[in-house]
Amino acid sequence: MDTLRIQGGAALVGDMRVPGDKSISHRSVLLGALGDGPTTVTGFLDGRDCLATVGIMQVLGVRIERHTATGLTIQGVGLHGLHPPGGALDCRNSGTTMRLLSGLMAGQRFGSVLTGSRQLCTRPMDRVIAPLRETGASISGADGGGTAPLTVRPAAHPLQGVRYAMPVASAQVKSCLLLAGLYAASATTVIEPGPTRDHTECMLRGMGVHVVNEGRRITLEPPERLKGTNVAIPGDPSSAAFLMVAACIVPGSRLRIVDVGLNPTRTGLLDALLQMGADIRMGNRREAAGEAVGDLLVGYAPLRGSEFGGDLIVRMIDELPLLALACSQAEGPSRIRDAQELKVKESNRILDTERQLARLGAVVHGTEDGFAIDGDSSLHGACVDSCGDHRLAMLLAVAGLAAQGETVVAGAKVTDDSFPGFAETLKALGGAAERGPADA
Ligand code: S3P
Repeated sequence: MDTLRIQGGAALVGDMRVPGDKSISHRSVLLGALGDGPTTVTGFLDGRDCLATVGIMQVLGVRIERHTATGLTIQGVGLHGLHPPGGALDCRNSGTTMRLLSGLMAGQRFGSVLTGSRQLCTRPMDRVIAPLRETGASISGADGGGTAPLTVRPAAHPLQGVRYAMPVASAQVKSCLLLAGLYAASATTVIEPGPTRDHTECMLRGMGVHVVNEGRRITLEPPERLKGTNVAIPGDPSSAAFLMVAACIVPGSRLRIVDVGLNPTRTGLLDALLQMGADIRMGNRREAAGEAVGDLLVGYAPLRGSEFGGDLIVRMIDELPLLALACSQAEGPSRIRDAQELKVKESNRILDTERQLARLGAVVHGTEDGFAIDGDSSLHGACVDSCGDHRLAMLLAVAGLAAQGETVVAGAKVTDDSFPGFAETLKALGGAAERGPADA
């Protein structure tokens, strides 16, 4: 298992671009595959999760040409052109792949089995099984339960459009139903309890599909076809978040992160940090392929503790442990509520964030629905563990940058799931980070 060694205290200074958005990368391949004609993609995330989606679509008979690590052409086969796979479809560690693919496979005239890593096979899939069954799809989990492997049988009748009010605010569940809805006999409506990321809707619109977002209600009319398109994928705001928080809490830091996705469904952390008094400015705002994009200028500034909950939480679901870290460095206590979903991510991000940050001296109490954080913690280097979670590994590295002494993150290779080159990026910006084997 490899490690990431961080020497604390070095400011991050410079200009950089983070790898492409993970959510949009998955969608570009899944939807591009269903297009009539080619879809060209730039800025694709060459990370392990998205490569799992690429591998599966190739198994389903889609030709995907990689021109560079981040440039692809997907030769769309049309809505009904996928081939039956020869074996189980391996989603590896990627929850997005499995949940979105389950909707797509539900609409096919052939059956399939969706499997993945041991970790993925413990994550809740009942949230897609139940609504897919309402469409008439035949899908079941392992031993008839709510976890993968998922077995999808060809439906006896065409799927029905449904009206589904999601009990949890989940872009993955919404997207799963919209993908199934492409094959339904009538319109599909999903009602979301909070504003989840809308990349699926944006891309479908760009491919000529009639999808309407009216407040919390999203309605898709089944299309005849999807047009191939060009997708320019911006930098992932969830990856930029690690650098942003590092710059906020390590004195002397000043970063410009260029070409970051600024879709309002993803900018919750930005709003939360501004609420705490952070020095962050947005520049060069524009739109590319239906998505808001811009540059972020971030500098160190003292932060104030604050309270967070409600819709803001959905808009920063993957960044909440980072917010907890920022709060631990702020003046005064903070509270993060309405974040129960963190328990079912790549790790239990409430429990594991509390435990691992505690080793570094941060007082971040896990609660039933988030965190209660004592401010003004001084951090010290320690040995910590990624728990197999890419975002936890990077969170701990950022905490290490703000700590005194050396921090060793074990199991750090997992950062490749979403941010290949993470350690090298820190190093290029002046952060003392080295990858190496555990016993180095
Ligand atoms: C994602 C949606 C979020 C997020 C995940 C990616 C997506 O999950 O946590 O990293 O691409 O749709 P949920 O929709 O389950 O909250």
